[in-house]
Amino acid sequence: MAGAGGDAASSADARARAAEEQMTDDERFSLLVSVMGVNDVVTVRDERIPEGVPMSAGYVPGVPRLGIPPLLMSDASLGVTNPGYREGDTATALPAGIALGASFNPELARGSGRMLGREARTRGFNVQLAGGINLARDPRNGRNFEYLSEDPLLSAVMAAESINGIQAEGVISTIKHYSLNCNETNRHWLDAIIDPAAHRESDLLAFEIAIERAQPGAVMTGYNKINGEYAAGNSVLLLGVLKGAWGYPGWVMSDWGGTPGWEAALTGLAQESGLQLGLMMWQTEWFTARLRQAYADGDVPKERLSDMVRPILRSMFAIGVDAWGPPPEVDMAKHHEIALETARQGIVLLKNDDALPLATGTMARIAVIGGHAQIGVPTGCGSSAVVPPGGFAEVIEVGGPGIMGVGRNLYLLPSSPLAELCKLLPGAEIEFDPGMNPAESALMAARCDVAIVFAIKLDSEGFDDPDLSLPWGQNAVIEAVAAANPNTIVVLETGNPVVMPWSDRVRAIVEAWYPGQAGGQAIAEILTGAVNPSGRLPVTFPADLGQSPRPDLPGLGTPWGTPVTIEYTEGAEVGYRWFAHQHQQPLYAFGHGLSYTTFDYSNLEVEAGDTITATFTVTNSGQRAGADVPQLVSPNRRSPAPTATGKTVRRRHRPIRHADGVFTVERAERAPRNEHKRGCMPMQMDTTDLIARARAGDHNAFRHLVQGHSHELQVHCYRILGSLQDAEDALQETLVSAWRNLGEFGQRSSLRTWLYKIATNRCLDMLRAGRRRPRIALPLPEATLPEPAGTGNAPPWLEPYPDVLLGHLADQRPGPEAAARPPRPSPWPSSPPCSCCPHASAPRSSSATSWATTPPKPPRCSIPPRNRCKAPSNAPAPPSATTSPTPAAPAAPAAASLYASPAPPPSTSSPPGSPTPWNAPTWTP
Ligand code: BGC
Repeated sequence: MAGAGGDAASSADARARAAEEQMTDDERFSLLVSVMGVNDVVTVRDERIPEGVPMSAGYVPGVPRLGIPPLLMSDASLGVTNPGYREGDTATALPAGIALGASFNPELARGSGRMLGREARTRGFNVQLAGGINLARDPRNGRNFEYLSEDPLLSAVMAAESINGIQAEGVISTIKHYSLNCNETNRHWLDAIIDPAAHRESDLLAFEIAIERAQPGAVMTGYNKINGEYAAGNSVLLLGVLKGAWGYPGWVMSDWGGTPGWEAALTGLAQESGLQLGLMMWQTEWFTARLRQAYADGDVPKERLSDMVRPILRSMFAIGVDAWGPPPEVDMAKHHEIALETARQGIVLLKNDDALPLATGTMARIAVIGGHAQIGVPTGCGSSAVVPPGGFAEVIEVGGPGIMGVGRNLYLLPSSPLAELCKLLPGAEIEFDPGMNPAESALMAARCDVAIVFAIKLDSEGFDDPDLSLPWGQNAVIEAVAAANPNTIVVLETGNPVVMPWSDRVRAIVEAWYPGQAGGQAIAEILTGAVNPSGRLPVTFPADLGQSPRPDLPGLGTPWGTPVTIEYTEGAEVGYRWFAHQHQQPLYAFGHGLSYTTFDYSNLEVEAGDTITATFTVTNSGQRAGADVPQLVSPNRRSPAPTATGKTVRRRHRPIRHADGVFTVERAERAPRNEHKRGCMPMQMDTTDLIARARAGDHNAFRHLVQGHSHELQVHCYRILGSLQDAEDALQETLVSAWRNLGEFGQRSSLRTWLYKIATNRCLDMLRAGRRRPRIALPLPEATLPEPAGTGNAPPWLEPYPDVLLGHLADQRPGPEAAARPPRPSPWPSSPPCSCCPHASAPRSSSATSWATTPPKPPRCSIPPRNRCKAPSNAPAPPSATTSPTPAAPAAPAAASLYASPAPPPSTSSPPGSPTPWNAPTWTP
């Protein structure tokens, strides 16, 4: 992965190197921390921020003698925020990220990114803490509204365009929160557990594609742990994947107060953000005196210090924050239009029984009920909440436990749907009821021709929703209104899916999300047909939580500060993929969204190759102009399903760049007829480098090489041997043989062909030797092939990579032959090495008595990841020193370790402890 393209990148690299070489150590250390400005939470000004610097989320001093400007950082993805930093400073408040995701319109993302960049720049902010891209895995996640979708590709495309827009204005953008920061429940103590391969194919895939497309200057880590290691100190994810496998050239900053210890400096983190919050969390600043001490003691090599500084400088030079001219003109009216257009395109019409659009010339009596619609529209709460021009229309304090409870408010942006409806329906007689009492609302609904109920829900950083219901008794209001008036329309303003027990009793449902500062207007335009709805759901709306991978959210309701473990057992099967695999019918599916017109699709042509290109004609066959989001779904027929037991899924076969799902995201123009759209998705992988690395002993490179072929090979073996069990053995032997003989692989045939030859020979050998019962292979269509079962009888050296090459029996559905199959003899002695660490023993169900009902468990390590051995003693040698950032710096762990047990940080002193709850008595502000 390159940084800014070509010459610019190498010049940024060269300049960063040159500047860093001239720095003193004091100057170097000064770049490694950011300090928060004074605001509602941090009330004392930090002396490290000079007079005259505008207060914001983060300040990093510059090095004037070398022409390096200070870094001034501001939140976030939905506008330039101001939670009490700067008196009276307001900015354009965009709709929620999930609304942008619903537009499926990358151009819109780019436009709003440019808007953000310009507004940041005029205030002097050269780092925008934007690019929130965490996948919506859980419909209760309090921050889903900030993010874009549940689909890695859609999220990546949209985030990349937004970041590109920001950086085109000369402002560095982050991408955040790396990674698996998918729930807010006790987020500082949250250990997010996921199968590494599934992680790689879901959340990490989104980051990878977005980083590749936009080259954001910085990556912000999450607060949570991933598989036992804090995100900001996670050597596997930072050194192994981000810096190692992806070659990311920018810098890694922690989330505010999210640095777990000075040792994180050794595992990829370059900057400790929000020192004051860190002090509250950990009672110390890690990257100031503590890190300097470690450096003085020789625990941090000089080269590593340089490695931390250079990417910061590189991003500054690559994006040009050192070469700013005069601030750009900011046209706030135009920015308002961007907010309005995003809201229009993001609103999703979920249901319409001929109730909408409302006739503009109507003389009808209309009841507008609830949702503070007479005042404005709600916005999400937390670090992304933007104060709009003119200020909030209303701030209703909501509160809650923990430090985040202090700022948990219902903010209303001054764009009243009621007022806007009155403008667009001048002949109608419109009345307002606050929706306070179901009976009172019903009385008004009964005397009107149409009732429109506005239903809102507050989502906030720091909190997950306890369930999917509408709060404040709004369901009762809707039920009462619907009973009183058959023409009831519901407008939802939520940051997440909600359940709709009343959906059959209302005639239309509109999801408007948090629609931003022009939201009232956009809603009224959609209701009256001035704008034809074209938003499509970027997240699945479940019928109820029972359909989700985690009906009960671990840790929900525990006091602030309680350690929580959430196992994301759905693995890569996020959102609609989970529903597809479970054969569940959601309330509203990903991609759903109605229009006031109709579209026909014809002439589909698909060109295969390294890139798949689909071309088809979209015809607006209705009477109104409208926009469409044509979607092509590539079903992954070979994908193993997550099991009912919730075990994680191993996927051996998907190409690295493959993402199932929507890949044509362009919108038809607003012209009424014949629009031609193309969609393409790159699926190319350059293997030259991988082969070289694999030959040099890099297991991870080998894994990447073979993983795309392994399922296909297994199918091949199955066809020859006629037994799934035998096919597994043949596959393993093939891979072992390929690994051992990789040196013999020449470029005359493709790797696939070479692997096929080996596999064929293995099968034939097995047949010849009578090791397996020969059978005539059936020409079995792939769709009916049973899911590949894993195995525990691999050669021991393969065991560190079981999730990739082998899979676990418990995670797979047994094949059709399973019921008849005799118990599988265990090749292990009674206490075999576990899959994570060959030095330890783990209990193993030796041989299952009934495979059909009780699949045997593979060896699972009961040892916490951080206590496990760093590398199995019988594994081949680790990658050569050339994969290390510098010879003297600590070696990047082989990315292979992502797929094995996480390595403990190469700490020379005691590991960092646990953070302290915010309300712990040790902290006195
Ligand atoms: C949030 C980040 C934000 C940072 C700075 C944190 O609480 O998680 O998304 O950028 O604060 O305000």
